[in-house]
Amino acid sequence: MIVCHCNVLTTKNVLEAVEQAGGRDGLSLVTPGLVFKKNAKRPRCGYCMAHIHQLIEDHMKAQSDAEKQETVGKR
Ligand code: FES
Repeated sequence: MIVCHCNVLTTKNVLEAVEQAGGRDGLSLVTPGLVFKKNAKRPRCGYCMAHIHQLIEDHMKAQSDAEKQETVGKR
Protein backbone atom coordinates (compact mmCIF):
# COMPACT_ATOMS: atom_id res chain seq x y z
CA MET A 1 0.00 0.00 0.00
CA ILE A 2 1.29 3.44 -0.87
CA VAL A 3 1.74 5.54 2.25
CA CYS A 4 3.39 8.61 0.76
CA HIS A 5 1.96 9.57 -2.60
CA CYS A 6 4.45 12.38 -3.18
CA ASN A 7 7.40 9.97 -3.02
CA VAL A 8 5.60 6.69 -3.76
CA LEU A 9 6.71 5.15 -0.46
CA THR A 10 4.94 1.96 0.45
CA THR A 11 4.23 0.35 3.81
CA LYS A 12 7.03 -2.10 2.97
CA ASN A 13 9.48 0.79 2.34
CA VAL A 14 8.56 2.29 5.71
CA LEU A 15 8.90 -0.95 7.68
CA GLU A 16 12.20 -1.83 6.00
CA ALA A 17 13.52 1.61 6.95
CA VAL A 18 12.41 1.05 10.55
CA GLU A 19 14.27 -2.27 10.61
CA GLN A 20 17.39 -0.70 9.07
CA ALA A 21 17.27 2.12 11.61
CA GLY A 22 17.72 -0.38 14.39
CA GLY A 23 14.26 0.03 15.75
CA ARG A 24 14.10 -3.57 16.78
CA ASP A 25 16.17 -3.07 19.91
CA GLY A 26 13.58 -0.64 21.22
CA LEU A 27 16.30 1.84 22.05
CA SER A 28 16.66 3.67 18.77
CA LEU A 29 14.44 6.64 18.08
CA VAL A 30 12.80 6.09 14.72
CA THR A 31 11.01 9.10 13.29
CA PRO A 32 9.19 9.72 10.01
CA GLY A 33 12.12 11.94 9.04
CA LEU A 34 14.50 9.02 9.49
CA VAL A 35 12.23 6.84 7.35
CA PHE A 36 12.48 9.39 4.54
CA LYS A 37 16.24 9.61 4.95
CA LYS A 38 16.65 5.82 4.79
CA ASN A 39 14.65 5.82 1.56
CA ALA A 40 16.69 8.73 0.13
CA LYS A 41 13.53 10.85 -0.08
CA ARG A 42 12.36 14.14 1.38
CA PRO A 43 8.90 14.97 2.63
CA ARG A 44 6.98 17.30 0.35
CA CYS A 45 3.40 18.02 1.41
CA GLY A 46 3.69 16.23 4.79
CA TYR A 47 0.24 14.69 4.49
CA CYS A 48 1.65 11.20 5.14
CA MET A 49 3.59 12.03 8.32
CA ALA A 50 0.88 10.98 10.77
CA HIS A 51 0.36 7.68 8.93
CA ILE A 52 4.10 6.94 8.86
CA HIS A 53 4.33 7.78 12.55
CA GLN A 54 1.47 5.38 13.27
CA LEU A 55 3.15 2.61 11.23
CA ILE A 56 6.37 3.10 13.21
CA GLU A 57 4.51 3.04 16.52
CA ASP A 58 2.50 -0.07 15.60
CA HIS A 59 5.64 -1.86 14.39
CA MET A 60 7.60 -1.00 17.53
CA LYS A 61 4.71 -2.14 19.74
CA ALA A 62 4.41 -5.42 17.83
CA GLN A 63 8.15 -6.01 18.24
CA SER A 64 7.96 -5.22 21.94
CA ASP A 65 4.98 -7.52 22.45
CA ALA A 66 6.74 -10.34 20.57
CA GLU A 67 9.84 -9.92 22.73
CA LYS A 68 7.73 -9.98 25.89
CA GLN A 69 6.04 -13.19 24.73
CA GLU A 70 9.46 -14.69 23.97
CA THR A 71 10.72 -13.76 27.45
CA VAL A 72 7.65 -15.24 29.14
CA GLY A 73 8.05 -18.41 27.06
CA LYS A 74 11.61 -18.87 28.32
CA ARG A 75 10.55 -18.81 31.98
S1 FES B 1 2.24 12.34 0.85
FE1 FES B 1 4.17 12.12 1.81
S2 FES B 1 5.12 14.02 1.53
FE2 FES B 1 3.24 14.22 0.49
